[in-house]
Amino acid sequence: MESKIDALREDFLSELGQAGSVADLDTIKIKYLGRKQGIVSNFLKDLPNLNPEERPLAGKLANKLKVFISGELRNKSEILEHESRSEFAGIDITLPGKYCSSGKFHPISTVKKEVESIFLRMGYAIEEGPEIETDYYNFEALNMPRNHPARDMQDTFYISDDHVLRTQTSPVQIRYMEKRKPPLRMISLGKTFRRDWDVTHTPQFYQMEGLAVDRHIHFGHLKGTLIFFLKQLFDKDIQIRFRPSFFPFTEPSAEIDISCILCKGKGCRICSGTGWLEVLGAGMVDPNVFSFVDIDSEEFTGFAFGLGIDRVAVLKYGITDSRMLYENDLRFLRQFP
Ligand code: DAH
Repeated sequence: MESKIDALREDFLSELGQAGSVADLDTIKIKYLGRKQGIVSNFLKDLPNLNPEERPLAGKLANKLKVFISGELRNKSEILEHESRSEFAGIDITLPGKYCSSGKFHPISTVKKEVESIFLRMGYAIEEGPEIETDYYNFEALNMPRNHPARDMQDTFYISDDHVLRTQTSPVQIRYMEKRKPPLRMISLGKTFRRDWDVTHTPQFYQMEGLAVDRHIHFGHLKGTLIFFLKQLFDKDIQIRFRPSFFPFTEPSAEIDISCILCKGKGCRICSGTGWLEVLGAGMVDPNVFSFVDIDSEEFTGFAFGLGIDRVAVLKYGITDSRMLYENDLRFLRQFP
């Protein structure tokens, strides 16, 4: 008798385990507890046919099973209802997940943000200018009239007689000084274009232009600013040297080198054995440039500087071919911090 009741309980539990919906539970309920043909109900109805000695125990066990089945059906029905309302309804949360890679900054964007943050801390404003520039802003107002030999320094993409893809970010200086009166401090970062294509040159590249104009500005301010900037950008222990140079829009002009960050000045492939890397062009704003923007060069002086952002990225990250910066190859881009 007891084993028969136990077997019924096992059958019930295995069917309950497979039940996935409230309808399944109803079927099970009818099968075991249904008034007319339920297995447990029939068992109870048949009690009078048993031996009188067996009846009390059989009745007790069958009633216990009936209460057990009702309770289990109620519990399971609550679980099913909860699952159908949960945020995971219809989702198998045991399946393995899909890999979703997170984006990264392009090395040029990383350098750009670093450079901007250093100059923002020094109180510089950030300005933008057009990538298609007029001949006037790209050359003429920067003290390079038509047929000036200095134009040959930059291999230019001409769009028309009067328009070029800007070859430098220096024209933003002019636009900025036209709109504002000194004291001024601004940097401008953006795309620039020249007809070049080799290991160290791409037709599109990035430059930063910087400008400071005020009363009593002298070359010492230029040196202090750029030494601070370069030590922040590269390393506080680098050596820095200023070499006399020429740019049409500054007088005097300088090119600025840092000790090679790879060999620490001993001489290697990156610095062509010299121990130095050229990183900046700079100088005191030429009075001729001030005359284009109506700033009195007797009253105001200023300094300007230009930096190749690609070149900084190439040096900082040890990139061997700067063209890789523009190939959008994820195997290359994923390597940067
Ligand atoms: N525009 C220059 C270039 O493309 C870089 C430069 C040099 C900018 C000296 C300056 C500067 O403002 O003073 O080579």
